[in-house]
Amino acid sequence: MNVIKVPNYYALSEAAACIVASQMLENPKLTLGLATGSTPAGLYKELVRLYNNGVLDFSNTPTVNLDEYVINPEHPQSYISFMKDHLFSHVNLESNYHIPNGAATDLNAECERYNGVVKNLPNRLQILGIGSNGHIGFNEPSTDPDSFGYYTSLVHLADSTIKDNARFFDGNEDEVPTAAISMGIKQILDSDQIILLATGEHKSKAIYDALYGKITPTCPASVLQLHKNVTLIVDTAAASKLPY
Ligand code: GLP
Repeated sequence: MNVIKVPNYYALSEAAACIVASQMLENPKLTLGLATGSTPAGLYKELVRLYNNGVLDFSNTPTVNLDEYVINPEHPQSYISFMKDHLFSHVNLESNYHIPNGAATDLNAECERYNGVVKNLPNRLQILGIGSNGHIGFNEPSTDPDSFGYYTSLVHLADSTIKDNARFFDGNEDEVPTAAISMGIKQILDSDQIILLATGEHKSKAIYDALYGKITPTCPASVLQLHKNVTLIVDTAAASKLPY
């Protein structure tokens, strides 16, 4: 894994934007795999700036998001709302974005539909955040040895994730959806390039485990050790448990 250590969140966002922008400029067939959560917000802000300055054109770059809560898409904390607020409404992507429908009447059928969507979008540069418990997307720690082979599925959020994400729901854990649709580990590994972003001391253990721990479903991010093209961009605080 290629590790880029930067002093702070601003530098992390800039470094990530440099890589994403250069890939968009160099590769006309690129698909951008997008993540939500607070970590990539600065990256999206920088991509919007580069678009406004005429550097980037999103009209030929489809996007595919990792996950969505089981939630009304109109909810301000749905991931589609997040993506519109931070990126989709600010660039010329038009309707060339893909994200699971968290309000589908048949959620299993929606997972199947999304598997087809992901399959048809090759050449993916996947942005990833990491949960403090080591989750990627909404692939939570598991004891299931088969979980590394999963495709998109309906998942249940770990209690620790509900606690972590309550900050987006006025601090009210009862308001956090308990389920989500998430791209599976197999589909994350199928991407061509991965940029993993982590900021803050509360991510330092997950980052250590992801890089140096045993490869195990109890730390889903540890599976990234098996991917041939991962760049971790990490600030000093999130890197604080790394041995260098
Ligand atoms: C969320 C998302 C993940 C994200 C993670 C970290 O629950 N499903 O894709 O990487 O948690 O979020 P944050 O960046 O807000 O710490």
